[in-house]
Amino acid sequence: MSATGVPSADEVAAYYDVMSPLLRLVWGDNFHFGYWEDENDDSGDEEAADRLTRLLIGKLAPGPGERVLDVGCGVGVPGLRLAELTGADVLGISVNREQVHEANRRAGEAGLQERARFAYADAMDLPHPDASFDAVFALEVFVHLDRPRALRECVRVLRPGGRLVLTDLLLRGEIAPELADGVHQGLTAQLLAPLPTFDDYRAMAGAAGLTVDELTDLTDRTHRTLLRIAASVDDHLQEIEERYGEQAGTIAAAMRSPLQLRPEFGYQFLLAHKPAAASASAS
Ligand SMILES: C[S@@+](CC[C@H](N)C(=O)[O-])C[C@H]1O[C@@H](n2cnc3c(N)ncnc32)[C@H](O)[C@@H]1O
Repeated sequence: MSATGVPSADEVAAYYDVMSPLLRLVWGDNFHFGYWEDENDDSGDEEAADRLTRLLIGKLAPGPGERVLDVGCGVGVPGLRLAELTGADVLGISVNREQVHEANRRAGEAGLQERARFAYADAMDLPHPDASFDAVFALEVFVHLDRPRALRECVRVLRPGGRLVLTDLLLRGEIAPELADGVHQGLTAQLLAPLPTFDDYRAMAGAAGLTVDELTDLTDRTHRTLLRIAASVDDHLQEIEERYGEQAGTIAAAMRSPLQLRPEFGYQFLLAHKPAAASASAS
């Protein structure tokens, strides 16, 4: 972890060697929050996670044949869903090679390997040429990134007029001094960069050369995720400690901490685009 609290790509890669199997055990193959319509919505975890994916695909609205960069692709579930539902061409990237392998395996299994590929790349230092994508899809990867730097990289690889949708954690209020140590420990255990406010996001997106189209607080619709994960971690506690080792135990403790449920923490999405006329200055 650097002095800024942002983990390096190598640290995140190693973290997901532990975190991927843990997440698949306690939550599922979508490594992102679920979305419930209201209090009476009794959707299961997988259905709720897929609903959030579809909501964001709908916001991004890529057309058939458009090139979409799926930043922080996990094991490929959201990227494959996007390819399947829209006919777009997807390149998913992750710093965890096991995830990349699994995502490509799933693409083959789904018969989508012609339109959905997955590869190793660091979102903070993308290997792709300028203006090489029509859209960027980034579900919950910014939690681990130097956000201003990664946003600039996204803007660089987007064509003028290209769109971006991302989800991220959100800081909705000040952390009381007596909670600060516990919060810091929880963020560190989960390799999360310091959390941004709405104002931070507007400023970062603008500075990167993006025009914000929508910035929405989804906390009320997604909050149940944290309760469900905490309960599932409780159910699997012994297995986690026995099978996945000490780091998994520390991560699991953070995932079931009541601190995560505090109202100061939330969940948001950003929809933005690269202005057609700003291509030169933003790259
Ligand atoms: C919370 S998971 C979300 C995965 C996926 N978007 C999903 O919703 O299922 C975060 C993902 O970001 C990836 N990631 C973290 N830091 C990254 C970086 N610097 N460059 C590329 N991918 C990164 C992780 O390997 C992981 O796949």
